[in-house]
Amino acid sequence: MLRGLRESNSEAETEQIASQMAQDLKGGEVIFLEGDLGAGKTAFVRGLARGLGAPDDAVASPTFVIQTTYPCSSGRLLHHADLYRLASELGAEDVGLFDLPGDRDVLAIEWAERMKSYPWRRVTKVEISHGANSDTHRRIQIT
Ligand SMILES: Nc1ncnc2c1ncn2[C@@H]1O[C@H](COP(=O)(O)OP(=O)(O)O)[C@@H](O)[C@H]1O
Ligand SMILES: [Mg+2]
Repeated sequence: MLRGLRESNSEAETEQIASQMAQDLKGGEVIFLEGDLGAGKTAFVRGLARGLGAPDDAVASPTFVIQTTYPCSSGRLLHHADLYRLASELGAEDVGLFDLPGDRDVLAIEWAERMKSYPWRRVTKVEISHGANSDTHRRIQIT
C-alpha cells in the first residue's frame, strides 16, 4: 500500500495518486478521508473509482445521500460515504455503514472524523491539506 506524504499540484494529480493507491487495494479496506471543504476528498475518491474500474464521472460529493455505491469492472464495489451532513441523532451505524465493506469491496468515507466510534480495526487515513505553493497545491498524507 502506498503510504507517506505525497504532493499534488492539481486535481488531476490528486486523482492520479488515488488511482495508483487503488492498484494495491485487495478488498476489505476502509479509507478515511480527512481535510477541509474543498481539500480534494471527493477528487481523491474519483481517482479511487478510476483505479478500480468504476465509472468515475458518477463520483460527486453525495450531499443529499450519506452513502453511494459504484460497481467496479471486476464485480467489486466501491462504497463512498460523506458524513458531513450526518445528523447527530443518526449515527453511521444507523445508516448501515458499519456492515461495510464486503471482503472484496472498498469503503471510502469523507468526514470520517464525525463518527464517535467505529467497528473497523484497520483503517487507512488520507489527510489532505492545502499547501503553501499555490491555490492548487495539496499535501496528501497517507497512513
Ligand atoms: N491539487 C488539488 N487536488 C484536488 N482538488 C483540487 C486541487 N487543486 C484544486 N482543486 C480543486 O479543489 C476542489 C476540491 O473539491 P472536492 O474534491 O469536492 O473537495 P472536498 O470533497 O474535500 O470538499 C475542486 O474544485 C478542485 O478542482
Ligand atoms: Mg467532498
